[in-house]
This record gives sequence, C-alpha cells and structure tokens, in this order.
Amino acid sequence: MEEMGLFDAMYHCRAMRKLDTKPVPEELLVKLIDAANQAPSGSNMQSGRWIIVRDAGVKQQLAELNRKGVEAYIGPMIDNPGSLPHHDQAKRLRMMQSVIWQMEHLHEIPALIIACMDFGVKVDAATMAMGGGSIWPGIQNLLLAARGLGLGAAPTTLALGDRAAVSEVLKLPESMGAYSLIPVGYPLGKFGPVSRKPVSEILRFDTWS
Ligand SMILES: Cc1cc2nc3c(=O)[nH]c(=O)nc-3n(C[C@H](O)[C@H](O)[C@H](O)COP(=O)(O)O)c2cc1C
Repeated sequence: MEEMGLFDAMYHCRAMRKLDTKPVPEELLVKLIDAANQAPSGSNMQSGRWIIVRDAGVKQQLAELNRKGVEAYIGPMIDNPGSLPHHDQAKRLRMMQSVIWQMEHLHEIPALIIACMDFGVKVDAATMAMGGGSIWPGIQNLLLAARGLGLGAAPTTLALGDRAAVSEVLKLPESMGAYSLIPVGYPLGKFGPVSRKPVSEILRFDTWS
C-alpha cells in the first residue's frame, strides 16, 4: 500500500467506530505501538505502557465497563442530542448512533488497545491528571499510524471511569493507570475528512484580546 502523506493523514483521521471482525495481523498492531512509542513525554520519562487486548474474555469485560460508561454519558442525551455551533443536531445524532454501535460490538472488535502510564508509585487522581500530557501524544501517533495503514481506530475513555474495575480486568499494578481504550480494526465505513472549526476562529497572534 502506498504511504499516505502526513498532512493527508491528519486531515482524514476521523474517529472510526464501526469496525470489521476480520483479525488485524499482529505485526501491524505492534507497528502501531512502535509509532505511539516515538511520541514525546514530559522529562523524557517514557512511562507510557500499552496493552493489546485480543482475548475474548478480557474484551467482554471491557465491553461491559464501556456499556456502563456509555449508558451513563449518552443515556440522558439520546432523545435530545442538542447541537453545537460547529456540530448540528443531525451530526450529533449520527455520532451517538456510532458510539452505541461501538458499545454493542466492542467485544467483537479484533483489538482493543489500552494506553496506560506506569508512574512507579501508587497512582491517585492527581497523578493521573498530571500524566495525561505524556500519554496523549502517543495516542495521537497511534491514531495517525492506524490511518496511514488503512486501519480504523478511535480514542475512547468511557470504559475507564471505574479505575479499580479497570485495574482488576487488566491486572494492572497499583503504579499503573489506563487513559484510553482504542478499538482497532478494518473499517466498515468510509474514511473521510475531519470537520473542524475554521482556524480563524481558534487562532490569535501574540495575545488573545
Ligand atoms: C479525550 C477524548 C475522549 C474521548 N472519548 C470517547 C469515548 O469514550 N467514546 C467514543 O466513542 N469516542 C470518544 N472520543 C472521540 C471523540 O468523540 C471524537 O474524537 C470527536 O467526536 C471528533 O470526531 P471526528 O474526529 O470523527 O471528527 C474521545 C476523544 C477524546 C479526544
């Protein structure tokens, strides 16, 4: 497959939630983690840790945690998805429908990649909050690498709200915390461009006002 240009990948890296059950070769999954591992981290601590979940039992348990998170988050909105200036009601409804599709099918998706940090000491909420800046660059690298390889992926967090339950399912030591669950597989839908606010709205030079 011809490699995609970097900017092309960035501008076409939509959250791809509807994924085929067709297995993804292990070498491609490892390649995603290798790409994630090239990202920067605060003080070059390199505390990111990655778990590729393919086991049916572990996937099922994560799917149950995700269901709880999605139902709590989306339940109140499903009859009234609201709208944002940059995201109208029809688009929000489509997004919610794909989150629900993902909730129903998460256990069937070939690989669930869990982005974690290992802080070397017992994790608490403050440590988790501080650590985010050192794992999300890796997650974005992974998403771009997946896009470049023609794989679908999406960053998710709703499965991970109950930290104790997540630690138990993934057998994490008390020094580790999970930040994102990224389902990866071959896309069922079509890749397309992302839709974002115009740069004129989000950029100022020198000072904000
Ligand atoms: C911090 C963060 C948390 C997210 N959590 C979830 C999630 O739990 N479930 C989900 O389906 N998508 C989740 N997303 C994906 C966003 O909904 C998605 O990136 C956004 O709607 C833009 O979608 P697009 O890139 O397809 O335009 C999350 C994204 C980020 C950055």
